[in-house]
Amino acid sequence: MKIHHTEIAQAVTILQQGGLVAFPTETVYGLGADARNESALSRIFSVKERPASHPLIVHLGSTESLLDWAFEVSDEAYQLAKAFWPGPLTMVFKKRKDVSGLLTAQQETIALRIPRHPLAKALLAAFGGAIAAPSANLFTRISPTTALSVEEELGGRIEMILDGGACEVGLESTIVDMTTKTPTILRPGMIGSFELSQVLGRMIAEIAIPNIRVPGSHHQHYAPKTLTLLVSSRALNDFLHKIKEEKGGKIAILSRHEAPLSCAEGDWILMPQDPKQYAQQLYQILRTVDKQGYASIMIEAVPPTLAWAAIHNRLTKAAQEIF
Ligand code: TXA
Ligand code: MG
Repeated sequence: MKIHHTEIAQAVTILQQGGLVAFPTETVYGLGADARNESALSRIFSVKERPASHPLIVHLGSTESLLDWAFEVSDEAYQLAKAFWPGPLTMVFKKRKDVSGLLTAQQETIALRIPRHPLAKALLAAFGGAIAAPSANLFTRISPTTALSVEEELGGRIEMILDGGACEVGLESTIVDMTTKTPTILRPGMIGSFELSQVLGRMIAEIAIPNIRVPGSHHQHYAPKTLTLLVSSRALNDFLHKIKEEKGGKIAILSRHEAPLSCAEGDWILMPQDPKQYAQQLYQILRTVDKQGYASIMIEAVPPTLAWAAIHNRLTKAAQEIF
């Protein structure tokens, strides 16, 4: 990828002056601010309309600066860093006393990550400091995986958007809490529990992912505005007729299988069979479909295997109802 150094220099100046720069990472686009500048950090929350109770991830250029933020870093954390950084892994550590409470939602831990997208690396290297960055979307909405999606979400509210093309991973990083006796996955991502356990030579834990089916009480996140339903492969066809009758309107169906010969209920969108490709394309497809005026989006559930775990997690959060 070609890096435009004048653009990077401009982004660095903006960060130094307390401005906000959206930039690509390999997972999703981030909304970046100087992690040592409290007024810039406050602006992240207002621009995203995000409550201060949700802590931020601090992006670093190298492991040498880990101890500027983390109070201590275990041998196991260094093992994971060596195996997966730069890359789509975030680790949670006990924070140093001088770390701003704005980054940590006033808690005692800090989330750190070294991204591997070439533009993110170039920006971090040129800036020299650490960049706090949540995903560059409005609170609870779908994370952007292209510069155009950032523009649609936050254009006009921020100083600059660096365009690094479509993100390679497409889902947010795996978050692992390193402060617990057994390292614990807080948010699944494309680096799975199997890979993490293999590096450490012991099982790691995973917080139970609630799978609440009661409409209304479901905590939506990563969500389209259109009514979104997650439906098992077995129930898909019956459901299509039912929803069409009950709710009317055109349905977008996101399925990993070929469309039936006649599908009068809506538009069939063929999703990738491979989990990596599926993850890479999911948010972009949801965004596109969300703008096309469908009455509902019906997503076929994905296989119950480890390779699909992070995708399943995001689908359950995007859907209002799960069947
Ligand atoms: O892939 C990613 O992680 C992207 C790119 C931009 O790096 N960032 C991202 O940030 O997804 P955000 O803010 O949208 O999501 C960060 C998640 C939040 O759910 C937050 O609650 C959690 O990380 N988090 C941040 N600090 C934490 C901490 N100290 N302890 C536990 N969870 C934390
Ligand atoms: Mg986010």
